[in-house]
Amino acid sequence: MTQVENKQATSDTPFVAIDKIVSLCKRRGFVYPNSEIYGGVAGIYDFGPLGVELRNNIRRYWWWSMVQLHDNVVGIEGAIITHPRVWEASGHVENFVDRLVDCKNCKRRFRIDHLPPENVVQNKCPVCGGELTEPRTFNLLMETYLGVVEGERMKTYLRGEACQNIYLDYDNVLKSSRMQIPFGICQIGKAFRNEVTPGNFLFRQREFEQWDLQFFVHPSEMQQWFDYWKEKRFEWYKGLINHKDRLRFRAHGPDELAHYAKQAFDIEYQTILGWQEWEGIHWRQDWDLSRHSLYSGQDLSYTDPNTKERYIPWIVETSGGVDRTFLNLLIDAYEEEPDPAGKESRTVLHLHPTIAPVKVAVLPLQKNKEELITTAKGIHEKLKRLMVAQYDDVANIGRRYRRQDEIGTPYCVTVDFQTLDDSTVTVRERDGMTQVRVHINELPMYLLERVTWH
Ligand code: GAP
Repeated sequence: MTQVENKQATSDTPFVAIDKIVSLCKRRGFVYPNSEIYGGVAGIYDFGPLGVELRNNIRRYWWWSMVQLHDNVVGIEGAIITHPRVWEASGHVENFVDRLVDCKNCKRRFRIDHLPPENVVQNKCPVCGGELTEPRTFNLLMETYLGVVEGERMKTYLRGEACQNIYLDYDNVLKSSRMQIPFGICQIGKAFRNEVTPGNFLFRQREFEQWDLQFFVHPSEMQQWFDYWKEKRFEWYKGLINHKDRLRFRAHGPDELAHYAKQAFDIEYQTILGWQEWEGIHWRQDWDLSRHSLYSGQDLSYTDPNTKERYIPWIVETSGGVDRTFLNLLIDAYEEEPDPAGKESRTVLHLHPTIAPVKVAVLPLQKNKEELITTAKGIHEKLKRLMVAQYDDVANIGRRYRRQDEIGTPYCVTVDFQTLDDSTVTVRERDGMTQVRVHINELPMYLLERVTWH
C-alpha cells in the first residue's frame, strides 16, 4: 500500500509543553474553548478554520486506509441516539463507571485508577498529602430524553462508545451488501462521556470523536485477524509521525480490561504527559452480538454459506480517537527551530503534507508591483480548485514564510521578477527551506504529487 510516510527523522528533541500547543491552536484558529464568552465548559471544544481542515484530512486518510483499500471492509454512519436497551445490553449501564476520591485538604478530585498505587494504599493525596475521601462511583453515560410531554418522555443516552451502532447494523449490512465473514464495518462518529476528570486539552474530553473498525471473524481465525489489525494500526500511526520512537504497544493487565474485552493492547504515544493511550485494539470475542441477541430477542448468529455452520461471530475491534490523533499529531509536529543566524527562532509544524490543513500559499514577492500581484492571484485561482491554497501579500516575504511554517503549510509558491520573464516560480519547501524553480504549467502536478495520498 502506498501511503503517507512522514520523512522527518526521529530525534531526541525535548517534549513540547501542552500550553504551547493550546496557545498555537487558539492563536491560529485550530481549536477554541467551547462557549468561551460564557466562561467555557470543561472538556468541550470547538474547531476553527484550520482545525476543521486538519480534522477532515485526518478522517479522510483513515477512511481511505481502512475502507477504500480493503475489499472486505465497508462503512456506516449511525445515529448518536439509540434505543436505551442498547446500553443495558452493552454492559455500559452497569459497568461504565469511574471510581473517584476527593482530597479533604486541597479538594482536588482523582480517579482511583489514575493514582499511584502507594497513594491508594496510604489513602493520601498525591499533590498535598491530605487525606482522601471514601471512593464514590459515577456512571459515565450522558443521559438525554426523547419526547416532549412530561411523564411520557423516554430516558436514553448519547452514545458512550460510537461502535455500538455497528453491532446494531451488522445484520442489515450482511443482508444488504455482499459481505461474508471475515469482514469489517467502519465508522467515524461522536461519542459522549461524563468524564469526571476531563483535561489535558483534547486528550480527555466529554464530547469527542472515535474511529472504529469492528471486524467479524470465525472464532478459529480470531488470533490471526487480531494480530493482523494490531500490526496494521501500529504501522498506520507510525507512518504519520516524526518521532517514531515515541510509539509503542502496551498490553492491558487483567485488572484494567474493559468489561467487553478478553484481551487488549493500547497503541501509546509518549508526550510530556508520559505514555498515553492513542488507540485500543480489543479482543471483544462474541460479547457484543451475544448480548444484543439476548436483549433484543433477534438471532444475530451467522450461517456459513459453504459449510452451513452456524455461530456467533467473534469481533476484533480497533478503536481510536480523532481528537487524540489531532492533538498527538500537533505535538509530534511542533518544533521551535533556532535560527542559524542567531535571529528569531522559527516555529514550524512538521505535519505530513497530505494531512496539513493548507497545502500551498501563493505569495507575490512584493505588494507594490501590479504584474506580480495579478500573476500570483491567477495561480491561486487555479490551485484552490485542486487543494486548500491561500493567497497572502501582507508583510515581507520572510514574515509570510514564517506564518505558513507555523500552521504547517508544506509549500510556498513565490511569484518574483523572474516569473515575469520565464513563467517559473519559486517553490519553497517547509522543512528543509529548500527552493526550486518550477514552470507555472507544471505547478499543479508538482504539488498534487506531494500533497495527496495515493
Ligand atoms: N469502543 C471501544 C472504546 O470506546 P476506549 O478505549 O474507551 O474504547 C477508544 O476509546 C479511543 O477513543 C481511545 O483510544 C481514545 O483515542 C478515544 N477516547 C476515549 N475517551 C476519550 C475522551 N474522553 N476524550 C478524547 N478521546 C477519547
